[in-house]
Amino acid sequence: MTSARRIALFGDLLDFTADPGLDAPDGPGVRFRPGHWLLVEDGRIVAAQAAPPGEDWQRHEHPGRLILPGFVDTHVHSAQVDVIGAWGAQLLDWLENHAFPAEQRFADPVHALQMSHLFLQSLLAHGTTAACVMPTVHPASVEALFEAAHARGMRVIAGKLLMDRHAPPALCDEVETAEKECQALIERWHGHGRLAFAVTPRFAPTSSEAQLAMAGRLLRRVPELYVQTHLAENLEEVHWVRQLFPAARSYLEVYAEHGLLTARSIFAHGIWLDEADRRRLHEAGAQIAHCPSSNLFLGSGRFDWSAARAAGVAVSRGSDVGGGTSLSLRRTMPGAYKVQALEGRRVTAFALLHAAT
Ligand code: GUN
Ligand code: ZN
Repeated sequence: MTSARRIALFGDLLDFTADPGLDAPDGPGVRFRPGHWLLVEDGRIVAAQAAPPGEDWQRHEHPGRLILPGFVDTHVHSAQVDVIGAWGAQLLDWLENHAFPAEQRFADPVHALQMSHLFLQSLLAHGTTAACVMPTVHPASVEALFEAAHARGMRVIAGKLLMDRHAPPALCDEVETAEKECQALIERWHGHGRLAFAVTPRFAPTSSEAQLAMAGRLLRRVPELYVQTHLAENLEEVHWVRQLFPAARSYLEVYAEHGLLTARSIFAHGIWLDEADRRRLHEAGAQIAHCPSSNLFLGSGRFDWSAARAAGVAVSRGSDVGGGTSLSLRRTMPGAYKVQALEGRRVTAFALLHAAT
């Protein structure tokens, strides 16, 4: 029998027992335990205490330093690390000139695996231990990511990008093959260790009606799958969606009509929404991944966190690299503060930390 691996970390423990609210400095749910020991056995937290642990615990002491929960990046692209900060105009040209070329390189499984290791190592270096990740349209990019995440024991939710129009031919799939590829990935990886599969239409403009219907079918077959996509990020994009789906009341309704609005749906951005959309998101229990550094870099707009909160919509934090300029959520947090400040509002450091963890 091998003995358990026991690690004891000493420092100032800060975490949350409830949502601390947006702007109350002494909001509820903040748990601060200075000078405490965090006991970790075989990779799991088993206790937090003021008294030092026994001699059989390997001690790591960090007096005066904060010990925080791992960051959770709820929207990031594993194939866009090498286009961070790429110069361009707004979203749609940036995709064409920078994101799509970078993603095409992931057709090579060796490149995909090397870059996935680099990507996840960088996330860990920035304190991010869990992430919802968009790789590329290539099944090998998802295999590579899951393999690299599993090797590190990371919590990763990801899926094969679905895109069958309005993209370079090398990045377009077909409904029937894409469905089979997704099914094979689900069987192999969904629920394997800490990994989970997300049905991942890139965004409405790059999916045909038939493909969105297929995405809904995958979800009906395995209802506990996640959904991740982009929503109402940029005004030009929103107008384009209106032209492509003239019968839908709103951008969000395009996804809802195909069964993609669920309690496990994560919508990146959600800047250009109305009250009816926010109500729908709240009723479904879906969440918005707010990605301030990307919204500022691409000039997409200012996300209305207060309105989302007032409507009861859960908001988490995404880096959205490569639209976002850093994989660090610590660096991304001040962006969320500044976006709200431009709206004449202030959010607390606790609100920022809570959304990032
Ligand atoms: N909308 C569709 N694809 C993308 C992407 O790769 N990045 C961002 N920021 N928005 C998108
Ligand atoms: Zn994105």
